[in-house]
Amino acid sequence: MSSTVLCRLAKTCRPTLAIYHGRNFATSSSTETNSCSTDTTTPSSNNRRTVTLIPGDGIGPEISRSVQQIFDAADVPINWEAVDVTPVKAPDGKFRIPIHAIESVTKNRIGLKGPLATPVGKGHQSLNLALRKQFNLFANVRPCYQTPYTNVDLVTIRENTEGEYSGIEHTIVPGVVQSIKLITRHASLRVCEYAFLYAKQHKREKVTVVHKANIMRLSDGLFLQCAREVAEKYPDVQFEEMYLDTVCLKMVQDPTQFDCLVMPNLYGDILSDLCAGLIGGLGLTPSGNIGENGAAIFEAVHGTAPDIAGQDKANPTALLLSAVMMLRHLQMFDKAERIERACFDTIKDGKTLTGDLGGKSKCSEYTGEICKRIKN
Ligand SMILES: NC(=O)c1ccc[n+]([C@@H]2O[C@H](COP(=O)([O-])OP(=O)(O)OC[C@H]3O[C@@H](n4cnc5c(N)ncnc54)[C@H](O)[C@@H]3O)[C@@H](O)[C@H]2O)c1
Repeated sequence: MSSTVLCRLAKTCRPTLAIYHGRNFATSSSTETNSCSTDTTTPSSNNRRTVTLIPGDGIGPEISRSVQQIFDAADVPINWEAVDVTPVKAPDGKFRIPIHAIESVTKNRIGLKGPLATPVGKGHQSLNLALRKQFNLFANVRPCYQTPYTNVDLVTIRENTEGEYSGIEHTIVPGVVQSIKLITRHASLRVCEYAFLYAKQHKREKVTVVHKANIMRLSDGLFLQCAREVAEKYPDVQFEEMYLDTVCLKMVQDPTQFDCLVMPNLYGDILSDLCAGLIGGLGLTPSGNIGENGAAIFEAVHGTAPDIAGQDKANPTALLLSAVMMLRHLQMFDKAERIERACFDTIKDGKTLTGDLGGKSKCSEYTGEICKRIKN
């Protein structure tokens, strides 16, 4: 990764998050304005901050440990409050997130989360969905930036609370099921507003709304209409409308034509993985789930990687960069910078890389190398 690239990445990720307060956003920024904030969650810089840690399943505990070790090496003033979110049976017979986990995130307002396994077609509801709903984490922000492989520098902003993932499904008659794609004006305006504000604050020139309003005329039509309304308020930001299939085609042909993209839930889930593939894999891509009133949960884009779990083979970078986004959210800019630089230098150096990046090192060796660079 060139230094220009790393600078751009730092710029892209730095003022990472805007926090939704009713209809107004307050933002965190570092070098640009250092302004912030009506963010009541922000600690003073010498206070220790408690963060809820959900280590998760599969490789989750390994990569969470790696992040904790790196944070220790950098002397980050954070106390981790680890919680288990394995569902428990509620009195109504349904499986739910344990109350102590909900209480922890409610109290701390900030969480770092490892991947959670989702049973397919049975058992409890996706815990990821449950967490997003519980804390109204409405925007999922995923920066994808240049790597040695391609010339990519874009951000996907995915509506995170409704759409195809509303969880409203039922059997009409045996053999016929129905799944409701719920789109509301409130949530669509909220995420589009966030996307335009994000673009403006990060000096991004263009917002592309991704949709299929030609087929789903009402649902995607409403999302598109909301995007158009918001775009009118941001004349300085170029606005573009594009069908999902066209975006996919163009994205693999030339990703440099995209800047900031906003879209309904399912499209964002798929497209952000595609973008992660363009920059070298899931092991590198961080994300932040931004909620109302300062709540935010940061997580890697990837899943539990059951094929390599427990083998010390996982790449912890995505969770580490998610934790770096979290540090900037908490205005701990110096610590974020230091950890990020050590991580990028390790990747650039190329001698201690995990298997997914073409190296032979273990997760623990890669972690050790980053810690060494931080301490030096
Ligand atoms: N946010 C989340 O919690 C989340 C996201 C996606 C999938 N999942 C869950 O994870 C489970 C497995 O899903 P999947 O197999 O489709 O996707 P996955 O992301 O777990 O794995 C896909 C491939 O990428 C590799 N990979 C992923 N992360 C890696 C890392 N950090 N380092 C090195 N290699 C890595 C895996 O080894 C695998 O080959 C499922 O239960 C799914 O529901 C959870």
